[in-house]
Amino acid sequence: MLNKLNPWKKDPSPSDFQERLLKIKEHQVPAHIAIIMDGNGRWASKRALPRVAGHHEGMKVVRKITKLANELGIKTLTVYAFSTENWKRPKLEVDFLMKLPEEFLGTFLPELVEENVRVEMIGYMDKLPEHTRKAVEKAMDDTKDNTGLVLNFALNYGSRAEILDGVKRVIEDVRTGKISEDDLTEDAFSSYLMTREMNDPDLLIRTSGEIRLSNFMLWQLAYTEFWFTDVLWPDFNEEHLIEAIEAFQGRQRRFGGV
Ligand code: FPP
Repeated sequence: MLNKLNPWKKDPSPSDFQERLLKIKEHQVPAHIAIIMDGNGRWASKRALPRVAGHHEGMKVVRKITKLANELGIKTLTVYAFSTENWKRPKLEVDFLMKLPEEFLGTFLPELVEENVRVEMIGYMDKLPEHTRKAVEKAMDDTKDNTGLVLNFALNYGSRAEILDGVKRVIEDVRTGKISEDDLTEDAFSSYLMTREMNDPDLLIRTSGEIRLSNFMLWQLAYTEFWFTDVLWPDFNEEHLIEAIEAFQGRQRRFGGV
């Protein structure tokens, strides 16, 4: 059967999961995976549940995928948990989404600490409700010395705003002589973005069949490999992550060269 969104790639036969895992580890795994976790609302609607039930189920998937990504030696996992545009959603849904980081970290932080995972965040933290901000800050602080996977939450994140803010700070730094126009290389500009501490994603995954970027890491995704799936985020599992990494390992990255 042909995969609808990746027609060049046949759906994998259901071979043994462990075998595929070992095979993946023999090759280079993507150092940074970014995920647009889409389809929570549709997952819930299909089950006649409120949309927030989909978000709650989606939260548990983040835990599963973090664990496997860490085991695979992936360095950074960025998950798009809330965009600067998501404030337009009904208040009940926004309030629920703002409570999820607390619930996630309240439940799983001890395990993340145990597994040497470091929690990070990109996004406009100062505009988050205090309870959300405090939960994320505590997790970042409790895990700051960990050296395993970086679990990076994009929370109240918007890429255009991020780039525009970067440009404004560059203008200020040129004005005050901190940087000259000639020194403003792509690398130098990257250091004005929220992702300044991390490499660009190697692999972007978007679930639920939507094929767009939704204002996510527009600068950082310039040379990233994209992988789309019809699977709704709450249904996404370890096997899907393996499938995405297998697809990535089959790609030839040329970064504009030949
Ligand atoms: C998009 O699906 C999803 C979101 C806007 C929220 C993503 C949040 C999670 C998966 C929870 C994880 C959070 C933490 C803190 C671990 P949608 O609601 O737009 O789905 P739809 O397109 O089917 O309506």
